[in-house]
Amino acid sequence: MSRAGTIEIFEVGPRDGLQNEAKVLPVETRIALIRDLAAAGLRTVEAGSFVSPRNLPQMAQTADVLAGLSSFGGSISRSTHSAEAGSKVDLEIDPPIHLPVLVPNARGFADALAAKAKYIAVFAAASESFSRRNINRSIEESLDEYRPIVAEARAKGLKVRGYVSCVLGCPYEGQVAVSAVVSVATALAAMGCEEISLGDTIGVGTPDAARAMTAAVASEIGIQRTAVHFHDTYGQALANVLACLDLGVTVVDSSVAGLGGCPYAPGASGNLATEDLVYLLDGLGVETGVDLDKVAAAGRAVCAALGSAPRSRTGQALAAKVK
Ligand code: HMG
Ligand code: MG
Repeated sequence: MSRAGTIEIFEVGPRDGLQNEAKVLPVETRIALIRDLAAAGLRTVEAGSFVSPRNLPQMAQTADVLAGLSSFGGSISRSTHSAEAGSKVDLEIDPPIHLPVLVPNARGFADALAAKAKYIAVFAAASESFSRRNINRSIEESLDEYRPIVAEARAKGLKVRGYVSCVLGCPYEGQVAVSAVVSVATALAAMGCEEISLGDTIGVGTPDAARAMTAAVASEIGIQRTAVHFHDTYGQALANVLACLDLGVTVVDSSVAGLGGCPYAPGASGNLATEDLVYLLDGLGVETGVDLDKVAAAGRAVCAALGSAPRSRTGQALAAKVK
């Protein structure tokens, strides 16, 4: 299989990124970030989670974030939350952007429906210990809980994604068998998840392992339904993406400014940075529709709000140029 000419970047910064930041951002700043990312050309931006606010206060008020973005799908007003990003022009967004939200259980699904979410993601793991710590369920219990949720969501016309965590290693169990990843991914696909995102939650994978694991899943569910989600703990995320692009993967997850980690995975640092991914894909001549300078500006703005420095190497290089 050869590399696709166009890749969809699935932006997870407002969810996977912000959920792991010590500072809890106000709703308006979360909305401004999503608007900036949309204005940069990202067409799928994970907007938050309907999980316990006691566990993850960073994701509380996701309903308010969606409400604040309800004009999406038509014309949006460009963010003015930073002098650099704020141009006060109206931008026509066509096609409309997708705003997926994470749902861990029936309560989260009901809340997502009440908030008029049109795209949900359920999240399971290939490791029992991680599943317990993350969602207080065994793998089997989580799949049993998701089955009716996914069925109802699809029946209502929602889009549904399924995540598998710990696909290349677990913070509690170490090695994870490829067969365990394939088993959870195929179960999620069989219950109706349209796309399965394979998460290297703690960023321990290297390219040959990433390619072999992704190929094993894709041979069961198809490469078009297989997305990759790398954290960059050991600096391998871009190399892993490249290895998987050669399989024909067409959806790659990343997080603006390299924000993120996982609150249930000690030592896991940020996600693959969107700026670094766009720079790589631009260099390879792969179409993404994303404007590198604009996404880097969005990264600088959210980092200013968080009081942290962008972790993206490309973001840092571009920031030096605009000084
Ligand atoms: P639990 O304690 O088993 O739930 O938590 P419970 O049903 O026993 O309820 C306990 C309390 O939580 C109750 O409140 C419920 O109402 C409340 P109380 O009566 O004690 O006041 N509750 C909720 N509140 C709001 N929204 C809900 C909800 N459900 C119950 N949906 C639960 C189970 C899943 C809720 C909890 O463990 C949780 O919130 N975990 C957070 C999981 C999470 O968000 N993890 C990070 C995302 S996964 C990830 O980052 C990996 C990924 O990026 C891919 C990769 O990198 O690998 C996707
Ligand atoms: Mg993640």
